[in-house]
Amino acid sequence: MTAGCATADGAPGAVGGAGVGDPYFPRAGNGGYDVTHYALDLTYTPGDRRLTGRALLTARAAEDLSAFNLDLEGLTVETVEVDGEQARWEREGQELTVHPPGGLTGGADFRVAVAYAGRPRTITDPDGSKEGWLPTPDGALALGQPVGSMAWFPGNHHPSDKAAYDIAVTVPEGLTAVSNGEPAGQRTADGRTTFTWRTTEQMASYLATVAIGRYRVSRTSTEDGLPVHTAVDPAEAAPSRAVLAQLPEVLGWAQGRFGPYPFSSTGAVVDRAGALGYALETQNRPVFPGAPTVRLLVHELAHQWYGNSVTPKTWRDMWLNEGFATYAEWLWEEDQGGLTAQQTFDALYSGTYYPDPAENRAVWSFPPGDPPDAAHISGRPVYDRGAMVVHKIREALGEPAFEALLRDWPATHRESTASTRDFMTWVESKAPGKNLTPLWENWLLGEGKPTA
Ligand code: TRP
Ligand code: ZN
Repeated sequence: MTAGCATADGAPGAVGGAGVGDPYFPRAGNGGYDVTHYALDLTYTPGDRRLTGRALLTARAAEDLSAFNLDLEGLTVETVEVDGEQARWEREGQELTVHPPGGLTGGADFRVAVAYAGRPRTITDPDGSKEGWLPTPDGALALGQPVGSMAWFPGNHHPSDKAAYDIAVTVPEGLTAVSNGEPAGQRTADGRTTFTWRTTEQMASYLATVAIGRYRVSRTSTEDGLPVHTAVDPAEAAPSRAVLAQLPEVLGWAQGRFGPYPFSSTGAVVDRAGALGYALETQNRPVFPGAPTVRLLVHELAHQWYGNSVTPKTWRDMWLNEGFATYAEWLWEEDQGGLTAQQTFDALYSGTYYPDPAENRAVWSFPPGDPPDAAHISGRPVYDRGAMVVHKIREALGEPAFEALLRDWPATHRESTASTRDFMTWVESKAPGKNLTPLWENWLLGEGKPTA
């Protein structure tokens, strides 16, 4: 989205939009450019909760630009440079508007460096959950779904613009900083340690994480040689041991179901429950509030394919994440010889799945493919009824075609993004001669409980 043409200071070109048009978060992301790489250099002291940051973004202008926006919530901006030159900037809410001297040429790569500092904010989501920067007793957790990453670095904070990352975190000696991807160096000097992490695969900014604390870290690898990095709060070490030991097995099972693992390392961060109220599928290594169950581990690892490798184009497409990650739980249970996915489906349909009748009713409160507002993008129907959509697709396609779909969808859109429409069109192309319209209308997009 663009608006206007030449600006007061004369640079030619459009003004990049202040959002990418997300139906639920209209100011998330920015128009006019595409980020290819983030280099973040962060220093944090838990004592005073102060973060000092330098973000160097490499991006490509989609058109001639006289100005463009970054998303940044809170913190104090000190300097902004574009291609090594000081740039004029102003802030309004989460929008940091940058005026590159002389403007930018469409199609050209540019670099923007932002120096900033302050006490990063915890953001309360429309649904009441907490994200952004979450201080913990011994450090902090940075979690970004859906818009929390703007609390700790400036960027194009919308899932439609994925990028590679280098994240360096400097913390007081004795603490550990863990992030996405793989370690790319560690150095201690003057009582501080810098941990550098590198993510070469495309990542949505909501999946970026930093975990700072007094962790027990372990680096092992799966039988296939995939590095496994875990960081566990000492208080959670004993209750986590058995489930984390199962991670390679779960990953092997998931590869059997969803195809080759899409990233170059895996792992987990287990912090003390209390600092956060939910687990998040942060790329490569999900973050858990206390020791997870195997089922929750299955869910977050399934997201590495469904959500992290193939990422929703907008926040309306959340069911593509949560419906599939929930269905992964059902499949795991089925493959372990427990309830079949059909039995789980039937329990939800008959309203006997949850002990609380209100929870059973909540499954039907809105269509998973069209949440009523931003407060509902993580609502019960997105998970459970989303999984029921997947099950109806299984029923419609039959077993071999469905099994192929589970592998082919993430492979087709690997390290990319897709919308609900993209998914519907793609499934239809895999089921020639089948009329899937009633399935979409009744299960994915229609209000109320479909008739059997
Ligand atoms: N998306 C996370 C998962 O399914 C859970 C989650 C993150 C969540 N933020 C939330 C759930 C806010 C409810 C509300 O693994
Ligand atoms: Zn999930």
